[in-house]
Amino acid sequence: MKAEFKRVSLGNVKGELLCVFLIEGEKLPKELGLFSKDMKVHRFESKKEQTYHSCTMGRAKFAHMLAVGLGKRKDLRLDDLRKAAGMSVQHASYLKQKEVMIHVPDIKGIAADDAAQAITEGALLAAHQFIHYKTEREDIFQVGRVQLTHAKDLSKAVQLGSIYADAQNYAREIDEHPANIATPAAIAKEAKKLAKQKKLAATVYDKKALQKMKMGGILAVSRGSVEPPVLVKLEYNKGRNYPLYCLVGKGITFDSGGISLKPSKGMHEMKYDKTGAINVLGVMKAVAELKLPIRLIGFMPLSENVPSGSAQKPGDIIKTYDGKTVEVLNTDAEGRLILADALALAAEHKPRAIIDMATLTGAIIISLGRHAAGLFTNDDKLAKTLDDAGLETHERVWRFPLWPEYTEMMKSDFADLKNISEHGEAGSITAAAFLQEFVGDAKWAHLDIAGVDMVKNKHFYLGKKGATGTGVRLVTRALAKLSQKK
Ligand code: BES
Ligand code: ZN
Ligand code: ZN
Repeated sequence: MKAEFKRVSLGNVKGELLCVFLIEGEKLPKELGLFSKDMKVHRFESKKEQTYHSCTMGRAKFAHMLAVGLGKRKDLRLDDLRKAAGMSVQHASYLKQKEVMIHVPDIKGIAADDAAQAITEGALLAAHQFIHYKTEREDIFQVGRVQLTHAKDLSKAVQLGSIYADAQNYAREIDEHPANIATPAAIAKEAKKLAKQKKLAATVYDKKALQKMKMGGILAVSRGSVEPPVLVKLEYNKGRNYPLYCLVGKGITFDSGGISLKPSKGMHEMKYDKTGAINVLGVMKAVAELKLPIRLIGFMPLSENVPSGSAQKPGDIIKTYDGKTVEVLNTDAEGRLILADALALAAEHKPRAIIDMATLTGAIIISLGRHAAGLFTNDDKLAKTLDDAGLETHERVWRFPLWPEYTEMMKSDFADLKNISEHGEAGSITAAAFLQEFVGDAKWAHLDIAGVDMVKNKHFYLGKKGATGTGVRLVTRALAKLSQKK
């Protein structure tokens, strides 16, 4: 779907379906006066998530009107506008309307630009459907266009919202492909395609290159698979004189657990174990389109984690890229092994900061459920930037401690480190503490996105099932903030 802006006052909007968002307890705009009686009859009071629909039967310049309640002003957050926009798109789809118009509301204390960006994001994210493998297309209906209207020019905000949401949808589309299609090689190919489109420099390190570089983590995890591993490096503004940031994303195209095999119930969801790496692709796309004044390098270590006669075994001791030895006590704690190599490589570039995204632990879902990503960082300023970006994008983060005692828990009896803590205590923190061992003195933040990268229940704008691309808008916004700092 495409988003457009049209400068027009509410009284002059023409078309098929117009959606307006109304605040509980506030006066109905006079242009909508003709609906006032009927709204009363239908007890529409603009309560949060309440809707009212009318066929205007020639009484207005538009054929249908949908009013979405925003609830009370004091409880209103920017994300409620994303949700209302999502509801509008769902309603358009229900009415089989190819186009939907949304009038940007004037809300005290919310800049019209911010409102327009949020509405654009909500609408575009809600319109995303993964239909790649559906061969019967007749029953599939797609809303093709959303037009935002307002008396003031908000076209810039609609453009911004489109960049953010399109990047997230791009990631969601790739996330959804299953492991037999989205192999490490296929994802590397996609990364190269993006690089060409966005003029990024791309380097693909194949298995041979990884062996030469002594990337022992990636090589150990991929040993059991017939799919060779790759490490993709994408560079935005390569060679330019801007401050450098690095991204790293966990790209396990399928996590069966390896020899430490996972239970089969729900195992298919482990095709989503690559979403950290795919988020890197999404952020690179958005940053390039936003033309942010930074240099950005994205690293995507890509591998399958499956058992076989050649797979790594519990108890194996491996050597990572930076020369540390790791005792692999559980082959299902594989994400940290591939990230160890990639983080150490990223740190060599001496960036201002490294941000990694990873579906690292099931424990983070126990801690935070599906409403926030775990944040682990060695830098308070970076924590604040990510926290602010999370509140703005509604891809919220929650910070955990990284005290030295947690690092102690990852020391091995027989090697430098072990890849799991005893009894699984503090599973998400000890995983992050393990990662921290590989970033040297770089400023670094790790986002554990295992709880937020997919939805299982209907969401107002992230669909009813599948990949959410959560993290793309968050990290893009954080980089946009960092780019404004001197
Ligand atoms: N990819 C999983 C984490 C995960 C679990 C993501 C559930 C999404 C949903 C990760 O590789 C893993 O298996 N972690 C183990 C670590 C354990 C062996 C210390 C886990 O969380 O159980
Ligand atoms: Zn695992
Ligand atoms: Zn995993």
